[in-house]
Amino acid sequence: MNINNIINKINALEIEKRSFINGEYVNSIDMNIINKVSPVDGRDLSGLSACNQGDVNIAVAAAKSSFESKIWCNQSPQEKKQVLYRLADLMLLHHEELALLDTLETGRAFKNYYNDSVPKAIEALRYFAECIDKYYDHAIPPRADAFASITREPLGVVALIMPWNDPMVVSMWKLAPALLMGNSTIVKPAEQSSFSILLVARLAKEAGIPDGVFNVVTGFGETAGKALALHLDISGIFFTGSSEVGKKILQYSGQSNMKKVGLECGGKSPFIVSEKCTDLPKTAKVLAKNMFYNQGQICSAPSRAIVANEIKDKFVELLIRELENYIPNDPFNIESEVGCVVSKEQQHKIQTYIELGIQSGAKKYSSSTAKNMHPNSSYVLPTIFVQENNHSILAQEEIFGPVLLVIGSNSIQESVSIANDSKYGLAASIWSNDSDEAYWVSRQLQAGIVHINSYGDDDNSVPFGGIKESGIGKDKSIYAFDEYSYLKTTWIHYEPINDN
Ligand code: NAI
Ligand code: MG
Repeated sequence: MNINNIINKINALEIEKRSFINGEYVNSIDMNIINKVSPVDGRDLSGLSACNQGDVNIAVAAAKSSFESKIWCNQSPQEKKQVLYRLADLMLLHHEELALLDTLETGRAFKNYYNDSVPKAIEALRYFAECIDKYYDHAIPPRADAFASITREPLGVVALIMPWNDPMVVSMWKLAPALLMGNSTIVKPAEQSSFSILLVARLAKEAGIPDGVFNVVTGFGETAGKALALHLDISGIFFTGSSEVGKKILQYSGQSNMKKVGLECGGKSPFIVSEKCTDLPKTAKVLAKNMFYNQGQICSAPSRAIVANEIKDKFVELLIRELENYIPNDPFNIESEVGCVVSKEQQHKIQTYIELGIQSGAKKYSSSTAKNMHPNSSYVLPTIFVQENNHSILAQEEIFGPVLLVIGSNSIQESVSIANDSKYGLAASIWSNDSDEAYWVSRQLQAGIVHINSYGDDDNSVPFGGIKESGIGKDKSIYAFDEYSYLKTTWIHYEPINDN
């Protein structure tokens, strides 16, 4: 596939921009739409339905009625599994189209979506489907005259509010366990990236998901998202996005019906390099890859490198060399590893942080230039700041762009306290060839995921999610089923028969 091929395919796409409610595509009641452009080349992508309270009410009523009919939740795990396998097969058939749609809307390199992200989303769907009939409930005999079963019950109607930085993967992490636990679902994709999940909705119907069980309501967060989070007929809301909005979701739950909340929010993840790290070139390579991949728009990006002062200069030199491997290049070019940031708004936000860094007097290093970018594209050159300490705005706030901070440290204890001096607690990493030190540090780090001498390595079987202002609850792994269900105890009394 070459660039002309990709552009021709993009131009030929028939993009669905209406919401998907009760098994069909529908316009919003008042026909409002969202105007937007592609971050790749500024082409017009307007027309996405902007749903409001009235549309949300219709979607929730459809989901509620499908849940009450038990048409989906009463299907056996075996049956549900087959339906999701069919959906995974259909997504595979439309693999290229899904990758093209996500590239067009978000500006991430097509190669990333095609080779990595979309296949990963399909794998996640298969993983959850595979697990469901091996996922047992519990039974215990608490007394001689009783037996108790502890079952996981669906919550009912659940809403899933999505981010734009990895639309298919995050959708499947939430949608698959939510559906497999028997819930009826409403996905509210990010307004920046809604096209791929709208295609998946049609495929889900084709795979056998009954009408009303999987709805997609498009629109802005402040209208469609908020209406879902406040709705009295929704019993669970699961969100990935900024901590700022995550806190609002908690409030909406409190203001309405105490619906169950799951949050996967931001991060400012520390990457500690000890004096006892022996392979600095490899360490710098792993750090740069995880930091600059997708222009830094990854919630678990290792955006604070905390480096022993003894090796800091050498390590920074290695990092600077890595910058040239993450130069933004036309996202439609199959050779490109790194593309655009999602919007002009996000580009401006990141550049404002870079300005702050420059004003603070921190040493700044950037790649020289971008390649083959359209004049209307949105991108940011990968940038490193070497800072004195962890107190600056840059060190404390999530930038969500290709901006890495390097902070020096005088001891491993100081590295740990710098790492934990953050409102976030998503991921963390320690690089050391002293196993006692590496293990001790890993136990001290306040984070949902800690990597020792690695970063970003991943498998569907391990949970993902943070602590502190990085969130509540887990995506991925068998533990995700717990999020989309509640535990019910059934106490079964019986009269023991006297056998004397
Ligand atoms: P956001 O947190 O505002 O949006 C995420 C999702 O929440 C979108 O679907 C949006 O429509 C929805 N939303 C927004 N306001 C809402 C509300 N009041 N009620 C219900 N739903 C609402 O993220 P945004 O504005 O797109 O990006 C801003 C910053 O958020 C980024 O710079 C980054 O720092 C962070 N972010 C973090 C992500 C992560 O994976 N941790 C993903 C996306 C953004
Ligand atoms: Mg926002």
